[in-house]
Amino acid sequence: MAKNEWDVEFVRNQFPTFEDEQGRALVFLENAGGTYVPKQLIDHLDNFMIKTKVQPYGPYSSSQAGTKMILDATIKMAEMVNAEEDEIVIGHCTTMNLYLLSMALRNDFKAGDEIVVTNQDHESNISPWRRLSEFGIKIIEWEIDPQTGQLVLEDLEKLLSKQTRLVCMPHSSNIIGTVNDISVVAGMVHTAGAWLLVDGVSYAPHHEVDVKTLGADIYVLSLYKTFGPHLGLMYVQKDLHSHLENQSLEFMPELYERYRQPGSPNFLRIALNPGLVNHEEVASLNGLVDYFDTLYRWHFDQDEEGFHQRLTSLHKLIRKHETSLASLWMDYVGQQPLLKLIGSSETDIHYRSPTWSFRIKKWHPRDVAEKLAALNIAVQSGSFYAWRCLKAMGINPNEGVLRISLAHFNTANEIRKLCTALDRTLS
Ligand SMILES: Cc1ncc(COP(=O)(O)O)c(C=O)c1O
Repeated sequence: MAKNEWDVEFVRNQFPTFEDEQGRALVFLENAGGTYVPKQLIDHLDNFMIKTKVQPYGPYSSSQAGTKMILDATIKMAEMVNAEEDEIVIGHCTTMNLYLLSMALRNDFKAGDEIVVTNQDHESNISPWRRLSEFGIKIIEWEIDPQTGQLVLEDLEKLLSKQTRLVCMPHSSNIIGTVNDISVVAGMVHTAGAWLLVDGVSYAPHHEVDVKTLGADIYVLSLYKTFGPHLGLMYVQKDLHSHLENQSLEFMPELYERYRQPGSPNFLRIALNPGLVNHEEVASLNGLVDYFDTLYRWHFDQDEEGFHQRLTSLHKLIRKHETSLASLWMDYVGQQPLLKLIGSSETDIHYRSPTWSFRIKKWHPRDVAEKLAALNIAVQSGSFYAWRCLKAMGINPNEGVLRISLAHFNTANEIRKLCTALDRTLS
C-alpha cells in the first residue's frame, strides 16, 4: 500500500474486535451511535486499572502516575480540537455537558433575552435551552426546510435581533448529514452580538475539528463516537468563562473559591463538572492519541509537530476513503426504488457526513434493521432523539427511520455486503 493512501486493513488491525471471526463477519454500520475502540486505548485503560487505580492527586507514586495520565490526556484533547487546555471540559457525555452549561448560563440571561434553537438538532442541544423559557427567556426556533431537511441561512438572518444571546445548532445533523457552514453562521451570530454553540457530535468522527477557525464560542462532541470511551468533550472559549456560574458543590469552600475564579486554569473543569468523571476513561484517551499517531506514522513519511496538525493530515485521507465508500453506497441507493433517502445524496464527505437516514416503501424501518441484523449487518432504526427533525419532515418519530453510518474502518466490501443484504431483504 502506497504511503498517503488510506490503508484500511492496517487501520482495522488496530481494533481488537476484528481479531476474531465473529467480529470480522459483522458489518458494523451504526457508527453514528458509537464507534469501536482501538487497542491502544484499551491498553491505556488496562494500564491505568492495573497500576494506577487509586485516588489521583495523592503524594505517592501510583497516584502521581495516574494523575499524570489524566492531565496528559486532557492537554491532548484540547490540542485535538485546537483549544487551550483551560477551554475544555471532559464530562459524562454531550447531553450532560450541555445541561450543566445551560444551568451555568441561566442567571446570565435576563427575561426577554432570546435563544435560537433549531429543529434539526439532537434533543440534547434543544431541551436544556427550551427549559430556560421557565425563567422568562424567549426561545426562537430556526426551522429546517421541511422538504430538504436543510437549515437555510437567510432564515436565521431574520431571527437574529438585539435580544439574541445564543444560537444553538448542529455542525451536521445525525439524521440529515449535511455539513452546516459554521464559519459563516459564526460571522452572522457575532455581528448580532450573540454566542454560537455548535453540536459537533455527528461531524467530529469524520473531520479534524479546529474550534478557532470555526469561530464557535462553544463546541461539543461525544468521544465515544470518535473511537474513544463513553465521555463528552466541551469547548467553551475564554471570554465566556466570567458569565458561567459554578455548578460544582461546596466541598472545600476556600479551595473551590480559588479554583472557580474565571482565569484559573481549572475553572471549567471544576465549574462545569461536579463530581468529575470516570478517571480511567479520561486516562484511556492517551490511547486515542497513540492510535491516531500510529496511523499517522504508517501513512506519512514526514513528521508534523502537534497532534492537531497530524490529525488534520490524516483526515485528508479519511475524507477520501469515506467519500469513495459514500459514492459506492449512493450508486446503490440511486437504483433501489424502495429506499427513500432523507436529505441530500451528496457523496463528498466535506459537505455531508456519512450518516444516512431512510424511509423504506412498504416496510417498517425496525423490521428492515432486524432482517439485516440476521444477515450480520448492524444498523439501527428509530428517531435518534431528533424527533423534531423527523416530525418537521412529516415522518412519524415513533416509527422513525433506518439509519446507516460509516466510520473510517469500514470497507468497500462491507458496502457491497450491505447492498446484497438489502436486495435479499427487500425483494
Ligand atoms: C448529533 C448528536 N448530538 C448529541 C448527542 C448526544 O450525545 P451524548 O450521548 O454524548 O449525550 C448525540 C447522540 O447520539 C448525537 O447524535
